[in-house]
Amino acid sequence: MSLWLGIESSCDDTACAVLRENKDSIEVLSNCLYSQIDEHKAWGGIVPELASRAHLEKIVPVLEQALTEAKINIEEIKQIAFTCSPGLMGSLLVGANFAQGLAKDLNVECHGINHLEGHIYSVGALPATPLLKSTPLLQSTISLIVSGGHTELVLAKPNFEYVSIGKTRDDAAGEAFDKSGKILGLGYPAGVEISNLAKSGDKNFHEFPRALNEANSFDFSFSGLKTAVLRYVQAKGEEFAKEHIADICASLQEAIADILSLKAVKAAEKHGVENLVLCGGVSANYRLRELMAKRAEKSGLNFICPPPPLCTDNGAMIAAAAIFRKQAGMLTKNNEVKAWNDLW
Ligand code: KG4
Ligand code: ZN
Repeated sequence: MSLWLGIESSCDDTACAVLRENKDSIEVLSNCLYSQIDEHKAWGGIVPELASRAHLEKIVPVLEQALTEAKINIEEIKQIAFTCSPGLMGSLLVGANFAQGLAKDLNVECHGINHLEGHIYSVGALPATPLLKSTPLLQSTISLIVSGGHTELVLAKPNFEYVSIGKTRDDAAGEAFDKSGKILGLGYPAGVEISNLAKSGDKNFHEFPRALNEANSFDFSFSGLKTAVLRYVQAKGEEFAKEHIADICASLQEAIADILSLKAVKAAEKHGVENLVLCGGVSANYRLRELMAKRAEKSGLNFICPPPPLCTDNGAMIAAAAIFRKQAGMLTKNNEVKAWNDLW
């Protein structure tokens, strides 16, 4: 049994988690987070310099909260894992320096983990996932990672190797929600508001474009969608848009959820995997979860989507990825260097 600290600071969430590694299972003892959204809201997007300053201010209080909730002393931590790539350079540096300084002070090992690998291993931090059994699970899997910064389909192969099957050529799915929301006069980030409004709207009100909807393409493109929303609002007028905001949100959400789920299931079928994982902040979207589950079931796939605290950026997924690697003998001293160079 060993206690791990997971640190995530790649973007606008300062996150720390304490995990207990047992012989054949992982327990998440705490998973704490400070969201910087209020700091960035006024600017309509994430300001990198503000993000790194906020990480510096919040990392100690978030760590203290994680230790308190886990009911442990800091000296009990035996391993530290932190996000080392990809992300905002200043934000990553705060987490990396903090993790390495703390590890030196505690005289424990410290490991850099690729952020996207962390998202995939959020599944490993689920209470129902036994550690050893889930290793093959994660090796016959396509993961759709959808957040404000990423939209990527990743195939997991043996030995912690990954193949990128497709990714966005421009905006991420979260950006499609946020930028369209701005055009519709909603706040930042707009994903949650759009999905709340969509609940009372008609998803067939207007057909927004599904880009790159070709048989063998697994790339995405969302920049045309925000332009389509802009043109639609300009053509119909702001009064009309306000009056039909729920219908427009439902139609927009449908376009995003439709193309994401269609391609994810097609990719899983093409590569003959058993499992389809959905993770990242946008996976909190109820319609995306619904369509993914429906289409995965129809194709006989095992669909896994962790609850939102494990889907959005968090420390538990970073520690979980490190634990899986360690158990498989794949957490070398060079892990950090490998992760810096990107795994895919
Ligand atoms: O993973 P995340 O918390 O942060 C990073 O981008 O790393 O994802 C944030 C993104 C934002 O673009 C936000 O609008 C979107 O996730 N989002 C949603 C929902 N909740 C968050 N998008 C659609 N529906 C939601 N319910
Ligand atoms: Zn992320």
